Amino acid sequence: MDFFQYENHQLKAENVALSDIANTYGTPCYVYSRATIERHWHAFNKAAGEHKHLICYAVKANSNLGVLSVLAKLGSGFDIVSGGELARVLHAGGDPRKVVFSGVGKTEAEIAFALEKDILCFNVESPAELVRINQVAKTLNKQAPISIRINPDVDAKTHPYISTGLKANKFGIRRDHAIEVYKEAAELSHLNVIGMDCHIGSQLTEAEPFVDALDRLLELIDELAEEGITIHHLDVGGGLGVNYKDETPPHPDQYVEALMTRMQQRPELTLIFEPGRAIMANAGVLLTKVEFLKEGEEKHFAIVDAAMNDLIRPALYSAWQNIIPCDTSLQRPSQTYDIVGPVCETGDFIGKDRTLSIAPGDLLAVRSAGAYGFVMSSNYNSRPRVAEILVDDSSVHLVRKRETIEDLWRGESVI
Ligand code: LLP
Repeated sequence: MDFFQYENHQLKAENVALSDIANTYGTPCYVYSRATIERHWHAFNKAAGEHKHLICYAVKANSNLGVLSVLAKLGSGFDIVSGGELARVLHAGGDPRKVVFSGVGKTEAEIAFALEKDILCFNVESPAELVRINQVAKTLNKQAPISIRINPDVDAKTHPYISTGLKANKFGIRRDHAIEVYKEAAELSHLNVIGMDCHIGSQLTEAEPFVDALDRLLELIDELAEEGITIHHLDVGGGLGVNYKDETPPHPDQYVEALMTRMQQRPELTLIFEPGRAIMANAGVLLTKVEFLKEGEEKHFAIVDAAMNDLIRPALYSAWQNIIPCDTSLQRPSQTYDIVGPVCETGDFIGKDRTLSIAPGDLLAVRSAGAYGFVMSSNYNSRPRVAEILVDDSSVHLVRKRETIEDLWRGESVI
């Protein structure tokens, strides 16, 4: 459930009409709803109930400081994948003691920064990384808390680009090497082995692969206990899907309940979740204006002011995102359009074969754009990156200004 709905034919974010936002801040822009972010976060938090748990929001989904500060105020933890993300979390008021650091290529500088800030845990992806973290910790005279990411080899049944838990993927440690790698870790002087983690993919629409992965991890935790290695937390990663079109992913409470069928017998294990998309996707829209309608030989095109550089998911993953008008009272002829942007690429589309009643100047909202939207945007075709706006009831906060032309060449020089 989200807080984008029509009232008197006007599409609103909470209590603010999107047309008012377009008038004040221009288009294209991303608009987020605070109440939706909070509702989604609480859905996870409530579902986990009394079991010891921590929700570490996956910052990569949307790293805007305004968004992070809303989550920090709820007491959320954060899953980061770079020093840059850690800096953002700290700047937004996040607690470093609730930060887990994922990713296959952590640099020495990033490890040192995270150690200095006393993060909760490093999610380690390779034996070489264990050695590197141990060395950096030794230099800083610190103990590094670590968890090992296990590749459970389960099929997440999602898009191949966002499936991460199969043998063929670059992530994690093979299940059959896990005990050996844990033993290596336990012997390194400046590491504290505290956890185990996995992340099997993104946009999963069934609970079953998560439960399968959990079963494999719990079995491994028992095997480790026999070796004298105690695991204190189990991080199940992110990956819960959302409804873009006609998917029916489990609701966060159904997803958590499915995991709890196994976790109830393990009260000693703290459960960590790393949801990104499930919290942010439907908490944001991309607001765009129709520039021209054009008749092609075979197709009708609606050329809008947002493009693949602003929202790359349709071009990159053939992702389908709903595109809806911001004012349904306007009388327009209905037509089936490809919704395309101004970028010079055939792949520059936001949606294909959409039946809409629109005219130039009309506003459209691209739904489910709060996750992996702005964060994956670029300046391709020298297009300034768009503004981001956070709505809180009737208040509107500009949480990122639209880039200016001068911003386009910041740091560059002529010779
Ligand atoms: N934890 C780890 C270690 C991850 O790699 C990811 C996402 C998450 C958590 C959060 O997953 P989520 O709950 O958001 O599914 N750009 C793609 C998605 C890439 C996801 C990468 N990893 C897209 O637009 O669909």
